[in-house]
Amino acid sequence: MAVWIKWSFWILMLKTFPLIAWGDEQDHSLKQVLFCQPQSPSPVLLKMFDEEQMFQYNFADKSVVPRIPNLKKWANQDVFSNSSDLAFDIQLCTEAMQNFTQAVVNITPETKGILDIKVFTLHPLTIGKPNTLVCFISNIIPPDLNITWRKNGILLTEGISYTGYFALSNIEYQTFSYLNITPTYTDSYTCNAQEGSTTAVAYWVSEYPTPSEILENVLCYLAIAIGIVFLFLGLLFLFLTWKQHRNGFVVQEMIDCSFENNETATFHYSLTFNRMTVVAYDATRQKFTYCDPYPCIKQIYMVAAGIAKKLNNKPGIVTRMQQEKSKCQAQVKEFWENTMERRVQPSMKVFLPDIVHEGSIPHLVCHVWGFYPADIVVLWLLNDTILVKNYTNAVPVGDWTYQIVALLDMRGSLPENKYTCVVQHSSLQDPMTEDWSYGLTSNQIKKISIATVVFVLGLVTLIAGFVLWRNAKKSGYIPIPGYNEGN
Ligand SMILES: *[C@@H]1O[C@H](CO)[C@@H](O)[C@H](O)[C@H]1NC(C)=O
Ligand SMILES: *[C@@H]1O[C@H](CO)[C@@H](O)[C@H](O)[C@H]1NC(C)=O
Ligand SMILES: *[C@@H]1O[C@H](CO)[C@@H](O)[C@H](O)[C@H]1NC(C)=O
Repeated sequence: MAVWIKWSFWILMLKTFPLIAWGDEQDHSLKQVLFCQPQSPSPVLLKMFDEEQMFQYNFADKSVVPRIPNLKKWANQDVFSNSSDLAFDIQLCTEAMQNFTQAVVNITPETKGILDIKVFTLHPLTIGKPNTLVCFISNIIPPDLNITWRKNGILLTEGISYTGYFALSNIEYQTFSYLNITPTYTDSYTCNAQEGSTTAVAYWVSEYPTPSEILENVLCYLAIAIGIVFLFLGLLFLFLTWKQHRNGFVVQEMIDCSFENNETATFHYSLTFNRMTVVAYDATRQKFTYCDPYPCIKQIYMVAAGIAKKLNNKPGIVTRMQQEKSKCQAQVKEFWENTMERRVQPSMKVFLPDIVHEGSIPHLVCHVWGFYPADIVVLWLLNDTILVKNYTNAVPVGDWTYQIVALLDMRGSLPENKYTCVVQHSSLQDPMTEDWSYGLTSNQIKKISIATVVFVLGLVTLIAGFVLWRNAKKSGYIPIPGYNEGN
């Protein structure tokens, strides 16, 4: 619902955000990522666009799994390197992992990320209405997690799905798990991510529920008394224990090309160990280099030198790099519409949740979800002009959409205040807005207007009908003989 906004809004916005240029001047990349590690899953083969997973290779049945249905038509082996090259890469990755690990196991500990875990609902929460909890785990290294869900402490086995790992540009990984739920006021859920002896837990209960629409409708059509039933929130809790274990050595091969809008994509080949780039391809010299420009410790240097030598001596490797480069550049164009030009409009909902927990701060919620790309600006305006706060930090949901929840502290707000949540996104020509003020929402006003019109129309019809009927009776009035006489 794009609504015309007052001129003053525009001036304000231009003043506040003079340089919003969606998607321009940003680096993008299309990557083929192969990683191997001592523990499972290994090897893992992925195709990534920026921070989104496009395809995942299933080694068990040799199938290519698209992350979202839009990408189905390309879901075949051709999105990856050809099978003989892949076989070589997997062998190299596995051997390199073993050799590096052997070389440094007693010298350096493996690199480990401190897991960041969040649980939130996919849609604004309504008690009793099916929803999906998203468990988003980032900063993962090594990519070796057991993710489990519990409801009121009891392990769940149904309604759960996983996305597998997403390989990010900074050689970290992230992953998502989804749980289908029907929220209640009292159930609590936890998402547990276990990595060896390290456990991260995120805890979630219904806290700020949205007003129930079913009840609202019923009440509206019955008597126009609005009772607010509640909902919503995602509460986050992080608990972490830490203990070292010696199996976090990951080798990752990345074949990618990066590009800005419409520019020729630049090709890269790199092999990383423990998040350090140890071997890379220098396209100008047509040579694999090692420990350059970042120096390595001696033990790693030896292994890296061996790998670079092996690659440099491999017949046809320069041709292959050229083929990989043209393939990557061709794929940038092939996927353009579904990557660079992909635009999905947001949905939004503004509501004042009921306070479930005594003493918590009242917040107005603007929940915006389902959009792509991630760049977004969500503004809170007071009485049409004053900018109260803006938000830009969208979270990924793992399915090529993002969401953002903009909270506004309502302490000290005046009853006559009007708040507007404004959403600016590259999928929208005009900003999307939704107003909120104490009392009735615009939707409620709409419903009430309809109810009132129907009610008044009915009343008018009734009165008119009754009057006509009475007049008709009057004009045809024939006194009953003797009835009016004698009073
Ligand atoms: C790993 O080490 C073995 C034994 O030293 C060597 O034969 C092999 O080429 C090495 N492989 C890699 C990829 O470094
Ligand atoms: C994950 O769970 C499986 C089976 O419960 C167990 O064998 C494995 O060690 C666990 N992995 C981690 C990293 O905790
Ligand atoms: C795979 O690539 C290699 C070298 O890069 C090439 O020799 C071979 O013909 C390719 N195979 C197919 C099926 O394209």
